[in-house]
Amino acid sequence: MKNLISFIQIFIFNTLAVLIAKYQCDCSLFLDELVCQEVDTCDWINELCVQKDCSKFNENECDLIQKCSLNSEGKCEATQFCSTYQVKDQIDCIIKKGNCAAENITNDAGFYQCKSYIPVDCNSLTDENCQNNYEDGQTFCWLNSTKQCQSYSINSCLGLPLDVCEKLNCKILSDVCSSFQCSDLTSQEQCTYVKNGYWGELTPCLWKVDSTPKCINRTDTSDLTIETCSKMTDGRYYWKNETCVSCPKNYDDQISSSFQLILFLICILHEL
Ligand SMILES: *[C@@H]1O[C@H](CO)[C@@H](O)[C@H](O)[C@H]1NC(C)=O
Ligand SMILES: *[C@@H]1O[C@H](CO)[C@@H](O)[C@H](O)[C@H]1NC(C)=O
Ligand SMILES: *[C@@H]1O[C@H](CO)[C@@H](O)[C@H](O)[C@H]1NC(C)=O
Ligand SMILES: *[C@@H]1O[C@H](CO)[C@@H](O)[C@H](O)[C@H]1NC(C)=O
Repeated sequence: MKNLISFIQIFIFNTLAVLIAKYQCDCSLFLDELVCQEVDTCDWINELCVQKDCSKFNENECDLIQKCSLNSEGKCEATQFCSTYQVKDQIDCIIKKGNCAAENITNDAGFYQCKSYIPVDCNSLTDENCQNNYEDGQTFCWLNSTKQCQSYSINSCLGLPLDVCEKLNCKILSDVCSSFQCSDLTSQEQCTYVKNGYWGELTPCLWKVDSTPKCINRTDTSDLTIETCSKMTDGRYYWKNETCVSCPKNYDDQISSSFQLILFLICILHEL
């Protein structure tokens, strides 16, 4: 029985071995000033690590931070109503202006007006009215390869239509949209992490030095230090009790679901 349990434990640990991080830490979890300042979305103010104010993001960062958008004067501000934004490329209403839909024709100035979305069922839309609509904040409508309206998640690159693939920070490989992999990063400086699009899960990477140095999926965080833990994971891991652990959802600590699954299986096996 014991052998079976350890076999199953090893099996589970191995299949779950690649690290994945879903959630960004609340800035308050970064207790060290330097660590705090190295996380893009946080700022050290009055001896505390807090969410960075939109006005402190530069032009390139601004639009990709939830809650911040570049206004028409080029200043980064807290995202206003969708109707205050105009874009050159319709998909930017989604990507850059936080879940806005877009008009299907340009205005006199040649811009697409962003607009707030009314939730729709992508499958029920005609092909002409398909694009730049939403089912919810995470699911948008776009024409698929057979030019029919389909719903897609903004959190996953896999299978996205090729005309929006790269705009959502995904790559096209053999005519299929997929997420970047650690192996796509070819230098030690770049080898930090990859994300599934802009908003999907983060996979931490590791630079493996041998005869052919390469960037591979990271399988543990044991070599990360208080200085590198959050920096190397875009603030999705943090330093807790001398170890580098992934950030909890909703900022309160919870047992990870894989750990619960293991406990659950062990309990069942003990019952047998
Ligand atoms: C634009 O969308 C509206 C509905 O929102 C639709 O009536 C109209 O036909 C569409 N126009 C074009 C050019 O697709
Ligand atoms: C395109 O979308 C339609 C409707 O959602 C679906 O029936 C069809 O299988 C999709 N085509 C491809 C190639 O996925
Ligand atoms: C690395 O992790 C990704 C998940 O981000 C997974 O899809 C991929 O198959 C893994 N690659 C290897 C070589 O294990
Ligand atoms: C910190 O980790 C040690 C061993 O790694 C453990 O004994 C201790 O209970 C932990 N402390 C907290 C507060 O989790």
